[in-house]
Amino acid sequence: MFDKLKLHHKDEILDVSAGTGLLADMVMQKSGPFKRLVLNDPSEGMLAQAKYLLRHHTKEIEFTSHFSENLPFEDASFTQIICLNSFHYYVDQKAVMAHFSRLLKPGGTLWLLDWNRVGLFKAAIFLIDLLSPEHINTRTLDETKKLCEEHGFTVKDEDRWRFRIWNFFFLKCERNA
Ligand SMILES: C[S@@+](CC[C@H](N)C(=O)[O-])C[C@H]1O[C@@H](n2cnc3c(N)ncnc32)[C@H](O)[C@@H]1O
Repeated sequence: MFDKLKLHHKDEILDVSAGTGLLADMVMQKSGPFKRLVLNDPSEGMLAQAKYLLRHHTKEIEFTSHFSENLPFEDASFTQIICLNSFHYYVDQKAVMAHFSRLLKPGGTLWLLDWNRVGLFKAAIFLIDLLSPEHINTRTLDETKKLCEEHGFTVKDEDRWRFRIWNFFFLKCERNA
């Protein structure tokens, strides 16, 4: 995701499931500070680690703790939304996509990287889902593209690749005017 992102200091950015803030730390070093950078994660434990990692940037970053199904920001608040390795955890993915569409300004970009439910990886996902307490709902690249298009996005770039047993996809989507 870091290699693909194109961010500008004028951007208003929401990382919806920022986790421990690893990506934010890298983008702050490369292109920050930004007009606005919100790191959101429903896990207070993850956020605590992100706050520590980014402790030298606390004035430049807002930390929030919401589920992506219920993001209480105003309409058209952001120029960039980042969703990294998290979409498969969302219980109501249609509601999340509706929020992404509502929160982005027209012409804004959704950057989405997640597991691609294809090939033998489907069996691995089945086992991970059995053994893990988390809700896991993976999609294929094509299913996710369709969901984006149904929510007012145009796909501008896409990619898919394997890493060991894992399959991933990447989507860059523009919010339609
Ligand atoms: C695998 S971690 C990825 C974190 C970060 N994006 C990264 O790549 O380092 C998945 C994150 O999704 C978050 N998460 C799980 N369910 C969520 C939900 N419904 N809404 C928002 N975030 C959620 C978890 O708390 C966790 O931090």
